[in-house]
Amino acid sequence: MAQREILTYPDPILKQVSEPVEEINSEVTALIQDMLATMYEAPGIGLAAPQVSELKRVIVLDLDYRAGEERKPIVLVNPEIVSSEGEILFEEACLSVPEYSAEVKRFAKVKVKGLNEKAEEVEIEGEGLLSVALQHEIDHLDGILFVDRLGLVKRDIFKRKFRKSIKNKVEAI
Ligand code: NI
Repeated sequence: MAQREILTYPDPILKQVSEPVEEINSEVTALIQDMLATMYEAPGIGLAAPQVSELKRVIVLDLDYRAGEERKPIVLVNPEIVSSEGEILFEEACLSVPEYSAEVKRFAKVKVKGLNEKAEEVEIEGEGLLSVALQHEIDHLDGILFVDRLGLVKRDIFKRKFRKSIKNKVEAI
């Protein structure tokens, strides 16, 4: 199990669409273990494979892990939203978009199916934070960041803030 580097905006890999996993072999199992180690260390509540430079449809989540407690992660390979309902506005952040958060409109409830790390079919129903997190991570597999889902005004604020932080970095050298 090894931590991997988390890519950050505007890395072009984050804009790419990930490929479905054809077989959960030892390489995929190792990727899942690395993703979990990386997520817990960050710390974050979810991570998608493209964030660690692997364009494979794999996501991991653990919404309520507390240090010292048993880890109960959700692992989903080839996750797909099979049904959705309602709307929710939720303040989101992302390990690939440091120091920024904004409210995003999502489905209030989703049902997601996929495979777990043992290649068993699983179906997860989520509402609230779980619904948001599932949609956020599946978006990563399609090359979509939460900032891509903001309205024009908020997206403009994000881009200006981002440019300013880059400028500050350059000036600091
Ligand atoms: Ni994210």
